[in-house]
Amino acid sequence: MPRKIIIDTDPGVDDTMAIFFALCSPELEVVGLTSIFGNVHTELATKNALRLLEIAGRTDIPVAAGAVDALTGPFEGPVPFVHGADGQGDIDLPDPAGQALDISAAQFIVEQLRAHPGQITLAPVGPLTNIALALRLEPRITEWVDEVVLMGGNALAPGNASPAGEANIRNDPEAADLVFGADWQVTMVGLDVTLRVHMTPEHIAEYATHGNAMSDHIVKVLPHYRNYFESVYEAKGIFVHDSSAIAYILDPTLFTLRRWPIRVGTQGLGRGKTWPATGGRILPPWEGRPLVNVCVDVDGERLVEMEAEVLRKA
Ligand code: BDR
Ligand code: CA
Repeated sequence: MPRKIIIDTDPGVDDTMAIFFALCSPELEVVGLTSIFGNVHTELATKNALRLLEIAGRTDIPVAAGAVDALTGPFEGPVPFVHGADGQGDIDLPDPAGQALDISAAQFIVEQLRAHPGQITLAPVGPLTNIALALRLEPRITEWVDEVVLMGGNALAPGNASPAGEANIRNDPEAADLVFGADWQVTMVGLDVTLRVHMTPEHIAEYATHGNAMSDHIVKVLPHYRNYFESVYEAKGIFVHDSSAIAYILDPTLFTLRRWPIRVGTQGLGRGKTWPATGGRILPPWEGRPLVNVCVDVDGERLVEMEAEVLRKA
């Protein structure tokens, strides 16, 4: 039986790749996409989620629209210099034909977890606001979820949205602190590993040979995103953020884990930093907090190959 997942997403170029990776993996059943602000505003994230499902020919999968602002303040704004103003590399996509459900992302998550206890993995690859709102709406979702596997955070690596914080966490640190503190198994696939998953120009070129609608879309959306990476990092190509979380769900043996409680910085320069309790002594802010699976190393080459193989066969 395929494993059920809900992808909470802010599409986003790498979100797009992660969604297609999951849709094309026979081991997974995507039961819904929930949208969130981050790379773009929530309204556009919702539109993009619908567009991506249309490109994939999977309009049977529902989309629920998420929060438009963080738990404690307004969304700080999208990042067109990374993902394009449309979140899809500025490629002038038509509007989607479909519409989102008339329930919120948080309600959708609660309903699905209630209906399928023990069966659904949450895969948030954007800011964690919807997941925190779902926890507030129905705290028993911690008992009903299978696992939470998120892309976000930086345990030992520097941040990317600031020297301290990774973008998804920095967009709503209060929500992230709630999610890391809840009584469920969270796995953090953060910058410690995603910056070691290198998709080279050769890997990217191969997508153009697949000859399917999803790989063709990936080829169209990647150039803008790739330019950003090549202007910031020394390597050519891109590093693989959101798809790394999907890869963990498919094959955790790709990763090396450490288990630490995590607190999230919410103040000043450290806002958005995920702090693991790495020392021997657990200090009060970390006391009683659950152990998070923190990915600290990865077989990046195998991961990139696995994703390409899945899309090649689509
Ligand atoms: C994360 O931030 C977003 O820009 C990406 O989609 C990814 O989820 C990487 O820090
Ligand atoms: Ca994302």
